[in-house]
Amino acid sequence: MIGIFDSGIGGNCIKREIEKLLPEEKIIYLADKNNFPYGTKSLSQIRKIAVKNTNYLINKGAKLIVVACNTATVHAINYLRKNFPNITFIGVEPAVKPAGLISKRGIIILSSPKAAKSKQLLNLMNKYTKGRKVFNIGSLELVKAVENKLGNKEIKMILEKTLPEKILNQSDVLVLGCTHFPLIKNEIKKYVGKKIKIIDSGKAVAKQVKLKLNL
Ligand code: DGL
Repeated sequence: MIGIFDSGIGGNCIKREIEKLLPEEKIIYLADKNNFPYGTKSLSQIRKIAVKNTNYLINKGAKLIVVACNTATVHAINYLRKNFPNITFIGVEPAVKPAGLISKRGIIILSSPKAAKSKQLLNLMNKYTKGRKVFNIGSLELVKAVENKLGNKEIKMILEKTLPEKILNQSDVLVLGCTHFPLIKNEIKKYVGKKIKIIDSGKAVAKQVKLKLNL
């Protein structure tokens, strides 16, 4: 059994990719809405929440756990691996490497503010985006809008504020660095236009799950 958790509905985009790749696998998904959003919590709170979620999923029979949240991955996955040595953990990382490979102009990385400020993301940027313009943007407003299922009009207004024309004009790749964002990929696509390629990590995470399960 594969266990998946996120602060809310975001991790469903990861669940979908795993279901596509491994249709036979049993999956249990924990949408931890009570603790939404993780991005406003302290490091020790996020770790405590991650441990609680892990125990819940283990009790349900999970042997492999996907931390389907960028924020929880950067702040808690190493801690989980240390505390649950018999469980395989797979996290989510923004697709900065593929973005660096395909971008010719500039890269936008859109995440939750806490993930945007993390040293892990800065390391990825240093490693894979040399010589490119990078717009590292965190928006809790957009994460909340997705979780609360706001309508297209509200989403568009937030996008206008978060990704102004000036930034779009200098970019050709947009990395979705929060698992909530692929859920509004169509709205984002419509807003940024055809010149910007949108990428996320869902497929890569599913492949990693397959690999770890030896399937
Ligand atoms: N889906 C989470 C992420 O990928 C949402 C962030 C949050 O709960 O603050 O970062």
